Amino acid sequence: MRITNIAAYQQAYKKSVENPEQFWAKIASENFVWDKPFTKILDWNFNDYKVNWFEDGQLNITTNALDRHAANQPNTVALIYEPNEPGDDSVSITYKELLEKVSRFANVLKANGVQKGDRVCIYMPMIPELAIAVLATARIGAIHSVVFGGFSAQSIADRINDSECKVVITTDGAVRGNKKIPMKETVDEALVTCPCVEKVIVASRTHTPVSMIKGRDIWWKEAEQEVSATCPAEIMNAEDPLFILYTSGSTGKPKGVVHTCGGYMVYAAYTFANVFQYNPGDVYFCTADIGWITGHSYLVYGPLLNGATSLMFEGIPTYPDAGRFWDIIARHKVNIFYTAPTAIRSLMGFGDSFLENKDLSTLRVLGSVGEPLNEEAWHWYNDKIGKGNCPIVDTWWQTETAGIMISPLAGITETKPAFATLPLPGVQPILVDENGKEIEGNGVNGNLCIKYPWPSIIRTTWGDHERCKSTYFSTYPGLYFTGDGCMRDEDGYYRITGRVDDVMNISGHRIGTAEVENAINSHTGIVESAVVGYPHDIKGQGIYAYVICEHTPEHPDLLKKDILMTVSKIIGPIAKPDKIQFVSGLPKTRSGKIMRRILRKVAEGDVSNLGDTSTLLDPSVVEEIIEGAL
Ligand code: WT7
Repeated sequence: MRITNIAAYQQAYKKSVENPEQFWAKIASENFVWDKPFTKILDWNFNDYKVNWFEDGQLNITTNALDRHAANQPNTVALIYEPNEPGDDSVSITYKELLEKVSRFANVLKANGVQKGDRVCIYMPMIPELAIAVLATARIGAIHSVVFGGFSAQSIADRINDSECKVVITTDGAVRGNKKIPMKETVDEALVTCPCVEKVIVASRTHTPVSMIKGRDIWWKEAEQEVSATCPAEIMNAEDPLFILYTSGSTGKPKGVVHTCGGYMVYAAYTFANVFQYNPGDVYFCTADIGWITGHSYLVYGPLLNGATSLMFEGIPTYPDAGRFWDIIARHKVNIFYTAPTAIRSLMGFGDSFLENKDLSTLRVLGSVGEPLNEEAWHWYNDKIGKGNCPIVDTWWQTETAGIMISPLAGITETKPAFATLPLPGVQPILVDENGKEIEGNGVNGNLCIKYPWPSIIRTTWGDHERCKSTYFSTYPGLYFTGDGCMRDEDGYYRITGRVDDVMNISGHRIGTAEVENAINSHTGIVESAVVGYPHDIKGQGIYAYVICEHTPEHPDLLKKDILMTVSKIIGPIAKPDKIQFVSGLPKTRSGKIMRRILRKVAEGDVSNLGDTSTLLDPSVVEEIIEGAL
């Protein structure tokens, strides 16, 4: 499955386009354990959306991620856990041990009534139990829905209710840097409005006092004592759902992106092996939280499917200081490092003193994901971290694609700063104009679409297939629309230019403008608001909110803080606006549509050319907004 040179890439790419079915069937059948081999390869329709890969095959992803390695290389370390406190011991878990831990916890889930197809919500910090909970859920054929530990009670409740989770797995508390964060307490607050939840399983991390309700709440440790450490993996159909992961779109309500067992397994494993060029014995460190798709595919499943050693870090890049990542790399002799542009820019800002005396000589490959990696950050990463010796893989993909789509293969594809470069085998990108017409040739810009299914394409949005169809397959009929703008340069290299829809990318976190507006509008005394993203040196984008109040605020600064509290409560701290400007009106067209283009320009600080404002209902509001701009 490993491509080792550029000619092999070109050949694989060619095959994957000429005969995608044969291409993927070969990879899928030769590199994985199937309980029942598939005979059907692909059935698809992008017009009335459906995709089925390896449909009549049967498997369990954990057999592939754990059992086969536990048998062949039992003492290879599967997971390294680096705790928040640098002085605390790290923990290494071998494949043999991980299989036992996962099997034991799988039995705990079963003992608590979880069955194949049930949904399990996981709300935990970055500790080994999080990875174990994910894998245990998959082992018994239940569907995990991991909710990032930074989301609010309200957000947890919305996600639990949308997919009717039966069980929640959490911890007493979490530690991030020098902060202690409640987890169980937040879950308790969420559960007030979640009648579907029958059991809550609590792992202990901080020994924070928590309320434990008789009959509902169970301690992880105690429950484990009651069960055995072997649990046969449930045999799944390839198209049975493996997980749901909620992500933001243009509308207010996050959608549950659904991925399925077979295709996801094949694509996560294939892309991990090829993009990072993992060699046996390498230590691989992905800094993403398992609560995001990067953590799912490239901290847990991709590495484990390849029998790799994956390092998970509980803390933050700036604790105890801005050298923490480099310490971890030196301490664990990390060979492959995968992080986000926002982290690179932030650490770059702390200066190079934090790099002094850090032995980064084991590094071989550097990766980036989540947002465009600007040239300045690219060069710093390349020079200071990679010492000019490590290829940078700038990987473009999305929650919906589940795996890397456009990226260099480390050491194989020639890289270019700020470019995701070329599509992986099996990925057929196409640029289209506003009308959906293909833009051919090189040196062009357009909206990025994909014209053929790859194994881990989104299957549906939980409980609402129409929404999946209309979000991804109706803008440009017959194509999957990514929501991203993209340039293809003279060499045919792809550069992602950012979202073209109402989705913002704040520090690599995806947040819908409508979600933030809804949260602001629920604050007392607020009439209306409009939210846009604007360029931010470290976060990539910041959130700029224009807010109309019922009355002129008496204490505007206090009101701004109150609004931030409301947004934190409703969504989570990651969605807090960076700037709030109180305005008396918003630029609207005669039909009542907010002209966001103008608001974006003002937020960017570029008011020289606002474009056509002739359709505005009341052009004077624009003057006022420009004058009051922050
Ligand atoms: C959006 C997807 C993919 C996992 C993390 C984010 C942006 C992602 C890149 C990149 C430029 C990128 C896109 C995309 N994005 N990677 N290498 N260069 N932009 O997943 O939360 O689903 O967000 O992130 O805009 O659509 P996500």
